[in-house]
Amino acid sequence: MKAAVLTGGGDCPGLNAVIRAVVRTIHNAGGETIGLIEGWRGAIEANFVPLNAMETDEILPRGGTILGSSRTNPYKNPELVDQVAANFATLGLDALVAIGGDDTLGVASKLYNDHKLPTVGVPKTIDNDLSSTDFTFGFDTCLNTVMDAVDKLRTTAESHRRVMVVEVMGRHAGWITCFSGIACAADAILVPERETDLDAVCELLKRRRASGKPYGIVMVSEGAKLKGEGLVTKAAKKDEFGHVMLGGIGSRVAEVIGERTGIETREVTLGHLQRGGSPSAYDRVLATRLGIHAARLALKGDFGKMVALRGLKIVAVPLAEAVGEMRTLSEDFLDEASEFLR
Ligand code: F6P
Repeated sequence: MKAAVLTGGGDCPGLNAVIRAVVRTIHNAGGETIGLIEGWRGAIEANFVPLNAMETDEILPRGGTILGSSRTNPYKNPELVDQVAANFATLGLDALVAIGGDDTLGVASKLYNDHKLPTVGVPKTIDNDLSSTDFTFGFDTCLNTVMDAVDKLRTTAESHRRVMVVEVMGRHAGWITCFSGIACAADAILVPERETDLDAVCELLKRRRASGKPYGIVMVSEGAKLKGEGLVTKAAKKDEFGHVMLGGIGSRVAEVIGERTGIETREVTLGHLQRGGSPSAYDRVLATRLGIHAARLALKGDFGKMVALRGLKIVAVPLAEAVGEMRTLSEDFLDEASEFLR
């Protein structure tokens, strides 16, 4: 068995743990693994490094990805797709494990369907917005990063009797915002799944101040939509998969809160900090389990599948079913959080 592994899309903590587990599992079965450099770009350019079980043993605690990542989309140009197929043959690949979010796995799914290329997918993203899996690795580490930051912001917010607006990532799903909002005892949680009425947020902050809490923490998703304004972004640029690059709503929310409540308000955008750092224990274990099961699918020749977490088990689901549909935040979590948001 000669397998390749690649990491595509936005990086997240735990990618190296998957790479290590794939390499080790293939190695244990007598096979070899190569790493394609910078996601699908490496598959187009046949740019790779050999991956050895002993050398990759050390990479588990490292954030990011030793292979590099990109948002390269071979389906932007049919010639690039043919190039990927040709490189499979030239490199003598029996399997490809693609570790990525919806875009990267969408390409793996199409390559399997259109070209019968032997692909297996591993879901990753800090956004936790992939359907077919209960949680994605990277999400837990991201939440801990946000929680540490907000714990620090809280002390300065309290000293100055200010409102702190904290903008977090997550694209069009509110998982990071809602979970970190619960973990940080936020006063308001503004997610894309529910249109935000800033008048109501201002009333809530004033009410809480009047009843004795002298400061406030407002968590806002980069993809939240404001009543009367919709999505608020700094740049209208799009990536290769056609996604608008988000970011900038936090300062708008802070401006409005400051004006309408008269409370001194500041804004912090946590940005790419949320994708960095060493994976948490939970993410290390989840990523390792997913890597082992992805490699086992490859060894069995069970392609066109994605490994997924269902409850406590790792299962295989068809890639075609797993991609293309964003999983938004379940209302149950917002409902639970609402006890503290009055
Ligand atoms: O999908 C992960 C993510 O971090 C999103 O939360 C965010 O909107 C996006 O990637 C940022 O992408 P980039 O690294 O290209 O700026």
